[in-house]
Amino acid sequence: MENLKLDIRYRILKEDELSSEDLILINKAKEATATSYTPYSHFRVGAAVAMDNGEIICGSNQENAAFPSGLCAERCAIFYAQAAHPDAAVTTLAIAARQRDGLFTPQPISPCGACRQVLAEAEYRAKQPMRVLLYGTQGTCEIQGIGHLLPFMFTDDDMH
Ligand code: THU
Repeated sequence: MENLKLDIRYRILKEDELSSEDLILINKAKEATATSYTPYSHFRVGAAVAMDNGEIICGSNQENAAFPSGLCAERCAIFYAQAAHPDAAVTTLAIAARQRDGLFTPQPISPCGACRQVLAEAEYRAKQPMRVLLYGTQGTCEIQGIGHLLPFMFTDDDMH
């Protein structure tokens, strides 16, 4: 038997510890919460994707009366970014969310399992680690690669 351990790293940054680029991206994610369509959950999520060509693409959660047909903000933003700029690499993703009362969550929210798998593919496609910034009013969580969010991820490499 072999007992192994994984090293999952993240850090919590206060606003004055964030770079101006990261602050801009987080603000875009916060702004994008206003574009969500959430008549069912009333939970507004915004995502902003930075690409290596300088573009920033935003997305938000889009719900549907047939609940599973809706889409999370992260996938909305990532797919939109890749469709608009297929030759550019996604470098950083910022996420923010507002509760039913309209306030941003004190603690960051983190992507669901399906979104993590999509982030894994985007990182694989970009051939460079994707940074993820999870905003909360009490601090922003920075993750420096999808391996820290989705250990044991399945990628194309597993099929060869
Ligand atoms: N949601 C997101 O957009 N991103 C997440 O990371 C978690 C959940 C959305 C899906 C649904 O519209 C609402 O939040 C409640 O689950």
